[in-house]
Amino acid sequence: MSQQSTLQPLTQIPAHLQTIADYEKEAELHLSHMVWQYLQGGSMNEHSVRGNLSQFEHIKLLPRMLKDLTQGHTHIEILGQRFPHPIFIAPIGHQQQFHPDAEAATALAAEVMGCNMILSTFTNTDMRTLKKDNPYKWFQLYWQGERKRSLALVKMAEEHGYKTIVVTIDSPHSGIRDRERHAFFELPKHEPQPHHFIQQPQTNENEHPLFQGLMKIAPIWDDIAWLSQQTSLPIILKGIVNPHDAKLALQHGVQGIIVSNHGGRVLDGCIPPLTALQLIKKVVPADFPVLYDGGIRRGSDVFKAIALGASAVLVGRPCIYGLATAGALGVAHVLKILKEEFEITMALMGTATVNEISTDYIFQK
Ligand SMILES: Cc1cc2nc3c(=O)[nH]c(=O)nc-3n(C[C@H](O)[C@H](O)[C@H](O)COP(=O)(O)O)c2cc1C
Repeated sequence: MSQQSTLQPLTQIPAHLQTIADYEKEAELHLSHMVWQYLQGGSMNEHSVRGNLSQFEHIKLLPRMLKDLTQGHTHIEILGQRFPHPIFIAPIGHQQQFHPDAEAATALAAEVMGCNMILSTFTNTDMRTLKKDNPYKWFQLYWQGERKRSLALVKMAEEHGYKTIVVTIDSPHSGIRDRERHAFFELPKHEPQPHHFIQQPQTNENEHPLFQGLMKIAPIWDDIAWLSQQTSLPIILKGIVNPHDAKLALQHGVQGIIVSNHGGRVLDGCIPPLTALQLIKKVVPADFPVLYDGGIRRGSDVFKAIALGASAVLVGRPCIYGLATAGALGVAHVLKILKEEFEITMALMGTATVNEISTDYIFQK
């Protein structure tokens, strides 16, 4: 963790932490200015970051009353995998910056809360050390510049009990994040990086440093089709927002997608993911898993995303607010808050199961 951090992580949860917004305020007190800017920041003018949050305000719920909800539950099934609820932990890299227990703490909280965790390629914790028999863990792959190294990670995930490979495809280059630049953000020099091996390719003076550099080692559709043939695990693409790409994903053997603009961290001015979700749902088969990610801060947001067609949602920064505040305990509490808010929203909306949640529960002008 950063040397400049102020408060130590808490070992119990004080009464003033009741919402994700409370955790956001608290987490800032436990992180250095530089790490806070890294966590919160988005690309350029941060229109996408703000849009991810504000888009939920414009969706209005249309509840039903007097229904029998006594058989209610939150279980879902995706790709033949059953989950206790549809709130998943998004892949977030470099977690040692936020708490010394890093991804091990997040994984413990995920296990306790029956929450599917997606471990990032940029993990500081070796994927092999996370509990093998936890049924709720997926691995997020950043393409490792070429097929052999990428496949080696997929095979390792396969051997160690990860149930799905999530390939993040929206960031062949990182976003231009002004806050990080102003804060002179740097990743810790000696942080463990057990699974990420890419070196920036060298270019000569006749070559373009970007297009013949990083873009030369970025994956293309052929690589995705190839990868899906090499593993018994389902492949899901994270970072699709264009309906044309959703159709291409299907054609290239992908078994699901995550509609996401990377929490607004990569391309500023990108379509809000809730809008993208609605466009994409119109062009893919009804049973094709489409997960949603970006700006989820309340259980009612989870409900809205599912009503608009999401099979499950991913939560990014809120988990890190919990981690920075109180390690595994904090992450577990954040997940508990979201889960309870979601369950109460379901009850108030008159929906007994996640399957029942649909656009019928959204007010359309
Ligand atoms: C600090 C930080 C690190 C991230 N690292 C990764 C990563 O390693 N891989 C990835 O696919 N997405 C990464 N993301 C994006 C998240 O998985 C997710 O898309 C985003 O946080 C969702 O938005 P939310 O934070 O509003 O929930 C990162 C996001 C943040 C904030």
